[in-house]
Amino acid sequence: MPRRTKAHISRQNMTTPAGRKAVLTEVIDLIDQWLEASLKGEVGVLSYTEPKELQQQLALQIPKEGQPEEILKEVKRYLSHAVRTAHPQYLNQLFGGFNLPAFVGEILTAATNTSMYTYEVAPAATLMEMAIVEKMLAYTGWNSGTGAMMTGGSNTNMVAMLLARNSIFKGAKMEGISGLPHLAVLVSERAHFSMLKAANTIGIGQNAVVKVALDENGRMRREGLEAAMEHCLANGMMPFMVCSTAGTTETGSFDAIDEAAAFAKKHQMWHHVDGSWGASLLLGSRSQSLFKGLEQADSFSWNPHKLMNIPLICSVLLVRREGIMREEIQSHDADYIYHDNDTSAYDMGPASLQCGRRVDALKLWLAWKYYGDEGYGKRIDHLLDLAEYATDRIANDDRLELMFPTQSLNVNFRFAVPEGLDADAFNEAVRYDLIRSGSGMVNYCRLEKGLSIRLILLNPDLRKEDLDQFFERFIEAAEKHLFRLQVAGAKAS
Ligand SMILES: Cc1ncc(COP(=O)(O)O)c(C=O)c1O
Repeated sequence: MPRRTKAHISRQNMTTPAGRKAVLTEVIDLIDQWLEASLKGEVGVLSYTEPKELQQQLALQIPKEGQPEEILKEVKRYLSHAVRTAHPQYLNQLFGGFNLPAFVGEILTAATNTSMYTYEVAPAATLMEMAIVEKMLAYTGWNSGTGAMMTGGSNTNMVAMLLARNSIFKGAKMEGISGLPHLAVLVSERAHFSMLKAANTIGIGQNAVVKVALDENGRMRREGLEAAMEHCLANGMMPFMVCSTAGTTETGSFDAIDEAAAFAKKHQMWHHVDGSWGASLLLGSRSQSLFKGLEQADSFSWNPHKLMNIPLICSVLLVRREGIMREEIQSHDADYIYHDNDTSAYDMGPASLQCGRRVDALKLWLAWKYYGDEGYGKRIDHLLDLAEYATDRIANDDRLELMFPTQSLNVNFRFAVPEGLDADAFNEAVRYDLIRSGSGMVNYCRLEKGLSIRLILLNPDLRKEDLDQFFERFIEAAEKHLFRLQVAGAKAS
C-alpha cells in the first residue's frame, strides 16, 4: 500500500481545501489508531502523570502568535494523556465504551454546529429530538407526555424539582418562594448529590433535602417515606416532591417506585424518578419489572450518555403533563429569537432553561437507529449477565468479599485483608496502584460495611475474559501491596 504523505500544516495551507482535507484525514487517522489500541486493550487504560508534571508536558501557555504547525502535535499529546474510557479495563464510572454511530453523530454535530432552540436553525435535529422523546415516553407507560434534552442528569433532576415546585405552588414561577412554607423534598439516603444541588438552585436550600432510610437492598420503601414525612411535619417542613432513584450511583439499587407513587398520591406530592443511571435498563428483556409504578410518576430522568454509551452529554427529562415545561419555564421576553411563524410550535427552546442548545439528539438518533430496540436489549441483557458473572466470581474466591448484594450493574466488593489490617485504607491503596500502573481503572464508594470497590458494568463490548483479567490484576496488585506492608512491618519490628 502506498504510504500516505503526512499532512504538513502551516498557516498558509490550512485554509485551502486540500490543507483542510489533509488535516481532517490525519486527525481521523490518529483517533482511529488511538481507539484501536484502546478497544483491544493493548495499552494501559491511562498513562498516569502527576498534575505538575503534566502541566509542564502540555506546555499550557497560549502563544501570542498562532502556531498552526503545532496542531497535530497537540492532538497527539492530548490523546497520549487521555484516559481510555472504551478500554476493557475501564470499569470506573457511569459512562464509557465506544459507540460508532453515536461517534459519527458527534462529529456531524460539531461539523454542522447549530443550536437546537428553533426549528429554523436545526430542523432535522429538532424533529429527531422530538422523535426520541416520543420513543422514550412509550417506555414510561404514560398516555401522554412531553420532554426535552438537557445538559446532564443533574440538570434533568433540577428541572424536575423546579417543575414540581411551580406546579404545586402556582405563583412560584413569577413570585419565587418567599412566603411559602418551609419546603422539603424526600429522597433516598443514596440519592445522587445532584438533588442537593437542585435544591440549592431552585432556592429551597440543601437542608430541604430529607434523606429516607433504606432497606437492606438499598431501596427506598413506603415505611421509610412515612417516617420521613412524620419527621418533616414534626419539624414544620412541607414536603412537595418525592424522588425515587432507578439505579443508585453506588449500589445500582432501584427504589420501590410503585410504593413511592402511592405515597406521593396520598400526600399530593410530585413524584420524580431519577433514572439517570438505570433508565436504559427499560430496554433489557428481563429488567423492566424494576420500573413497576413508573407509569404513575410525574417525571423521569433518562441519561443515554451512561448506559446507552452515547458520548457525553446526552440526557433527557420526560414529564407526564403535556405543556407544563413550556408553561413553567419559558420567558416572554425573547422575540428576537422566537418568532411567531409556521414552525414556532416546533421550537424546543422555550421549554428549556438554556438559550443555545447543543445538538445532542443526532448521536442518540443514529445509535438507536443502528442498534434498534433489539440491539440495545441484547446489550443490556449481556451487561446483566456480566454483573452476575462478576458477582459469582467474587462469591467463589476467598480472597474477595462481596460488599453489597448486586442489584443491577454495580458490583461492590473488596479484597479480604488479614485481621488487623485497615481494609478501607488497604483497598483504596490497591485501587490507586492499579491506576498508577495503568492496568485498570475502577472506583470506590463508602457503604455501611466500609470502603467498597465499585465495579461498573456498562461497556457491552466487555467479555467474561476481560472481567477475569480485571480480577487477576486486582488480586495481584492487592497481594503485592500486602507483601510490601509485611516487609515494612518486619523492618519496623
Ligand atoms: C442516579 C444519578 N443521578 C444523577 C446523576 C447525574 O448525572 P450527570 O452526571 O449526567 O449530571 C448520576 C451520575 O452518576 C446518577 O448516578
